[in-house]
Amino acid sequence: MKHGVKFYGRRLGRSLRVHKTNLVEDLLPKLNFDIATCDVFDPHVLFPESIKEYVLEIGFGGGENLVYQASQNPEMGFIGLDPFMNGVASLLQHVDNQQIDNIRLSPLDARIFLEKLKPASLSKVFTLFLDPWPKQRHHKRRLVTSQFIDLCATKLKSEGELYLATDHKGYEIWMRDAIANQQSLKLVEEFNTEFTRPSFIPITRYEEKALNQNRFAHYFRLIKS
Ligand SMILES: C[S@@+](CC[C@H](N)C(=O)[O-])C[C@H]1O[C@@H](n2cnc3c(N)ncnc32)[C@H](O)[C@@H]1O
Repeated sequence: MKHGVKFYGRRLGRSLRVHKTNLVEDLLPKLNFDIATCDVFDPHVLFPESIKEYVLEIGFGGGENLVYQASQNPEMGFIGLDPFMNGVASLLQHVDNQQIDNIRLSPLDARIFLEKLKPASLSKVFTLFLDPWPKQRHHKRRLVTSQFIDLCATKLKSEGELYLATDHKGYEIWMRDAIANQQSLKLVEEFNTEFTRPSFIPITRYEEKALNQNRFAHYFRLIKS
């Protein structure tokens, strides 16, 4: 167990098809990065000099949001973290098809990455549909806690934004409590997809899964003032 942080999700799913295996072998090494050798990680080392703003997505899954945000904002650098290799391979396919050059990736657990990240270096953090761990005895595995929000806050610039989303009612209530128990970020907007959804975030694979099962999603937008 590294740094006392344990990742409970899957790292591997079904075997990858040939094209995705090739992308993992050829494209991933160009986008992948590690932070093992630095004490403080400055994201500017990942991108060309012209890029001055950085956005993080934690648990990008199939990469739908990361790819959308990166293609809409070519002047910003996007960092995606997800240890699930099948998701990484899907993201690589989008990056390759759309020739996107402002995404960098790591399989690191978000908590390890955030601890080393330079303070006040991010403009936005997306954390969408992370595992809700519905059983009571697994609640301690949930990523979003007030401490996690505080940690994100230290890495956001002034006016930086944190987006949280879930389709699990219990996790929504848990997130609301976590938000209430921290003072670093201000809750400025909520969306419930029964009525409305944020127009600037695409429907990800997990939101679509929820919609197909008649479950609505809840989004929280928080800002650092
Ligand atoms: C349920 S999927 C949702 C994926 C995507 N955000 C979506 O909306 O379709 C959650 C993803 O978060 C990743 N994940 C869970 N805990 C994480 C952590 N501590 N750091 C980085 N990624 C994590 C998992 O590997 C998984 O791919």
